[in-house]
Amino acid sequence: MCGIIGYIGDKKASDILISGLSHLEYRGYDSSGIALMNNNNVEVYKAQGKLINLINILKEKENHLLNYNIGIGHIRWATHGAPSIVNAHPHTCCFNNLTLVHNGIIENYQEIKEELIKEGYNFLSQTDTEVAANLIAKEYTKTKNLLDAMQMAVKKMKGAFAFCAIHKDEPDKIVVAKRNAPLVIGLGQGENFVASDIPAIIEYTKKAIYLTDHQVGVVKKDSVEIYDENDNKVENKIEYLPFEAMAISKMGFKHFMLKEIHEQGDVVRNVLSGKLLQIDKSIKLDEFKLNKEQIKKISRVQIIACGTSLHAGLVGKYIIEKFAKIPVDVEPSSEYIYRDTIADENTLVIGISQSGETADTITAIKQVKQKHSHIAIITNRADSTMARLADSLLPISAGIEVSVAATKSYMAQLISLYILSIYLHEQLGFSDFKEEIQNLKQELLELPNKVEALLEDTENIKKIAKKYSNFKDFIFIARGINFPSALEGALKLKEISYINATGYGAGELKHGPIAMLDNNMPVLAILNTGIVYDKVLSNCEEAKARQARLIGVTNYMAEKDIPLFDDLITIPFCSDLISPAVNIVVLQLLAYYISEYLGKDVDQPRNLAKSVTVE
Ligand code: F6R
Repeated sequence: MCGIIGYIGDKKASDILISGLSHLEYRGYDSSGIALMNNNNVEVYKAQGKLINLINILKEKENHLLNYNIGIGHIRWATHGAPSIVNAHPHTCCFNNLTLVHNGIIENYQEIKEELIKEGYNFLSQTDTEVAANLIAKEYTKTKNLLDAMQMAVKKMKGAFAFCAIHKDEPDKIVVAKRNAPLVIGLGQGENFVASDIPAIIEYTKKAIYLTDHQVGVVKKDSVEIYDENDNKVENKIEYLPFEAMAISKMGFKHFMLKEIHEQGDVVRNVLSGKLLQIDKSIKLDEFKLNKEQIKKISRVQIIACGTSLHAGLVGKYIIEKFAKIPVDVEPSSEYIYRDTIADENTLVIGISQSGETADTITAIKQVKQKHSHIAIITNRADSTMARLADSLLPISAGIEVSVAATKSYMAQLISLYILSIYLHEQLGFSDFKEEIQNLKQELLELPNKVEALLEDTENIKKIAKKYSNFKDFIFIARGINFPSALEGALKLKEISYINATGYGAGELKHGPIAMLDNNMPVLAILNTGIVYDKVLSNCEEAKARQARLIGVTNYMAEKDIPLFDDLITIPFCSDLISPAVNIVVLQLLAYYISEYLGKDVDQPRNLAKSVTVE
């Protein structure tokens, strides 16, 4: 949450900062701001709301800003204090010489603030960042050196932070620090960059240094120096960035979300590549580091994740229990961390996260790591904090996902879980399900074409989206392996259209939710051929008897059942087992088109952020 950017070089810093922030807008968009330095002069510009408001302010300063070649910038997702100009970053200390941008939360900021107030410091905002700026400035009064001041200040702060600081008396550097929030330094020729995430700098460089926790760095235009928590200089570990600038373009689609939905065929191909070659060959999963004997000892699996990733985990439970015959618990990370969870060296813990930076999941993983469980991480960001905590890193390589609503990363997570389940089954040497496994492999290989066939003709979904876009409430129902699809379909709809939508196991409808049904509460039911088809159909009859309008999503429906539904969306034929990966495409499109008809900001829905780096 929140994005930070820094630039030092010979170019016009404001242009580079704004371009960087535009690629970080997915991390928050409550306010934005930049601080620009030219010799010993620093100017700060801030705007409330979206980045465009800041861009408009800077337009009037185009020429004036030409010679400002150093700067730091920020895009905010409000934690402390309302999303106002006064709370927007950068924050300047009360001596008016040190300016700071920050991503994260300083947990002991109140204590520090009270001490500073006693010493005569004063504050304009409600933010923890202004407190940090003043604390660093206080240390500077003693050290007269920004690096030393930062090193002393961070030792007094608890919580999470990525900082970029500039000081009027040291106009040749940006000083950075990191703890529990991502920060990367991009390396150029005669210029360097700092950012919370790669998209902000990928058009300028492919070389970078990822800071690790507790490190502090000095970034000058020709050099970068990094220091560890004991203030010793460490060697710069340079890495090559895995993304192309192309990946952050809309490629002609109206929104990133629509582009990302349309990429899902290729995403499936990518995940399968090198792992599933032929249906009569075993799955190859070198990334999974437990050997056969160790796998045999796994007595339980715990899946921890949040939001959409949690829904992928629920599908995972279904298939891992079926094929690996190991009990699986799936739990939101935010709940997992405040319980006495039972895990030991025979527990396989699977953390799922598209960003790899979700604070709750990181905390949960760190906690369970102490119990010596094996940690497998399924993430779209092999460069993330979570990836670095993994014993087995299972990257899903969905390509960068810009839209805040997760779509293709969910698909990639599902496919990874299918692969892992079959892999565990094969490593455990089970001889049952032979035919079912072969069929599943076949269906996985055919899945990209099915997804693409579905995406070729979306007219029916568009029509239905338009028809239902003015309803205020929705219920999604399904059973079995598609219960998580109902949860995920409802989540997609509410997060981008702000329509109240809830997913239920269809059998739960009559245990309470049915009381809400009338003709203003459409029910979307997922019905696939398989053991739960008839049961979901009966639940649909019950809903219809209460005048609910019914939308069916199905891979096959008997002629006699069709009249029950007001609207029907048919997906390409597939087994119940693989159907979550096909149904979800329909639900993503439905949410997308409803949001579009309502004129909502599809890619940047209100109050959300792509990377939830606060607990
Ligand atoms: C919804 C969505 C969120 C995330 C959740 C966890 O579209 O994207 O629900 O799934 O915030 O994020 P990750 O997967 O990055 O851990």
